[in-house]
Amino acid sequence: MKVFWLAAAGLLSARVGMGAPLDGQALFVEKCLMCHGKQGMGTGLLGRRVQPPELLLRGDLSAAFVSRVARVGLGNMPAITRGEVSDLQLDAIANYLEDNSRQHR
Ligand code: HEC
Repeated sequence: MKVFWLAAAGLLSARVGMGAPLDGQALFVEKCLMCHGKQGMGTGLLGRRVQPPELLLRGDLSAAFVSRVARVGLGNMPAITRGEVSDLQLDAIANYLEDNSRQHR
């Protein structure tokens, strides 16, 4: 019986530790859309060299590319630190953008 409770407690804390699955779309809205929305400065500046300039309309974004740009920065886009967006959050955002991109090919 004691073993059972220990196992149950272990499972519970493992679940709490992992938290709910992260919502890449909600995180994109929270962390990126202020610059990458229709009127954002990211969209404006990307429009000088990429069509369409909105990330949500692109058909060529891979998760690896998105994560790299976000961490390292690119041109006028500042690097986004782990304090602002954690690795787990960035993975969720990058996967969301890659999935979304597939629908625009
Ligand atoms: C402070 C404004 C700002 C924020 C916040 C921002 N970006 Fe950007 N982003 C830019 C700008 C500006 C560019 C264009 C850089 C250039 O070409 O000089 C850009 C470019 C990019 C590109 C490159 C697209 C390409 O094809 O070259 C990706 C990918 C990207 N951003 C992803 C993200 C993600 C993901 C987030 C949120 C985690 C984010 N950005 C948050 C401003 C921002």
